[in-house]
Amino acid sequence: MARYHITGGEHLFGELEAPGAKNSALPILAASLLPYGPSVIENVPRLTDVGLTIGILKHLGCGVKESGGAVTVEPGGSDQCGIPREMMLGMRSSILFMGALLARRGCAELTEPGGCSIGARPVDLHLDAMERLGARIDERDGVIRCEAPHGLHGADIRLRFPSVGATENALIAASTARGATLIHNAAKEPEVGDLAAYLRECGADIVSPTPGVYRINGAARLHGAAHRVIPDRIAAATYLTAVAAAGGELYLRGIVPEHIAAVLEPLRFAGCEAEVFDDSVYMRAGGRLSSLGVVRTEPYPGFPTDAGALIAAVAAGASGLSVIVENIFEDRFRHVPELVKMGADISQKGRLALIRGVGRLHGADLTAMDLRGGAALITAALAADGESTVSGVRYVERGYADIAAQLRSLGARIELEE
Ligand code: EPZ
Repeated sequence: MARYHITGGEHLFGELEAPGAKNSALPILAASLLPYGPSVIENVPRLTDVGLTIGILKHLGCGVKESGGAVTVEPGGSDQCGIPREMMLGMRSSILFMGALLARRGCAELTEPGGCSIGARPVDLHLDAMERLGARIDERDGVIRCEAPHGLHGADIRLRFPSVGATENALIAASTARGATLIHNAAKEPEVGDLAAYLRECGADIVSPTPGVYRINGAARLHGAAHRVIPDRIAAATYLTAVAAAGGELYLRGIVPEHIAAVLEPLRFAGCEAEVFDDSVYMRAGGRLSSLGVVRTEPYPGFPTDAGALIAAVAAGASGLSVIVENIFEDRFRHVPELVKMGADISQKGRLALIRGVGRLHGADLTAMDLRGGAALITAALAADGESTVSGVRYVERGYADIAAQLRSLGARIELEE
């Protein structure tokens, strides 16, 4: 069984470049099914979830070529509408093919998607949006059959919650629906904006008159486009928190400063020095950190749920009381018992975790249960005394292209043992 072997206690020093954002690349690749003509998506990270998405595109008859960080998708003329259960279960974002298939082929036959176990993660908002756009949906025996034989039409969509995935599915489907669509209470995450930018480059008429609202005038058809994926703010947060926890200095290039502002706030509160430039940040963590304060996860521009576990890892080895309130998913504290094995003092109930910093954690044999929780365990192990192992590598590889090599370049002692 693969695992990371980490010898903690080294300070980390050096420079890194933020990779392309997983959560932009996945919806954009799904949307690349829609245009007539090839799209070239650049700055795509090499991740297992990207491999799964490319697998689905090929299953749907698309030609896909990978070269360096670019993926070229030629949508092809297949009328295949079905995605097998095993492909759907590989990751959450497989559900984004629903909007793309309905818009381009008039049908979609899929199952509930898989992905990390971090809460219930229903798809009701996706289905409501597709129904509003005119799709007929029949759910039986775990199979979701969607049809729009005469095409989709524009609609008023009011999301109960600003779901990232449901906003993305609605944007994709509405971009070639007949007439105008308004999406209210849309997600404001930068990755949603990046998908809208790609669709615009393909000829879609999408405007956001105010944050949280999208107005789409359906185009008859889209053409392919070249698009560069935005930097990954959660990967950026991961490397910043690793240096905060272990101590040291990081110069992180290729970021969008406003995308990481919410993550820098508690790190600065705890004593890290951060200087932000146009597209980079320099961070220094010397000495012991104090409390990180109260961190509440919220939709963007609030503190991202995907960085909650990382902050917990920093807080556990800092001093003072830090509090994390998880407002997005019900089950995002599966890393807590693992941190406790390292000597962390954490009381967690429901959506609340009270973390009393113990100053220094010790190494332990740890198991990652989900992607960001896995990154948090690596972060804690880098700062801890002694040796740790982190199994559950397959979760971590969903979101990080060779995290061990990146951290080694900063001086960390981390090896991936196959
Ligand atoms: C996206 O998931 C990201 N995944 C997640 O990142 C991220 O944590 C999340 O957005 C929130 O920022 C991708 O982009 C591939 P949501 P998504 O729909 O779209 C509820 C990572 O580690 N909800 O905004 O699935 C849902 O249960 C991953 O990279 C419904 O009730 O998130 C949750 O409580 C993990 N019904 C809330 O909305 C629905 O139909 C937010 O979910 C859809 C969602």
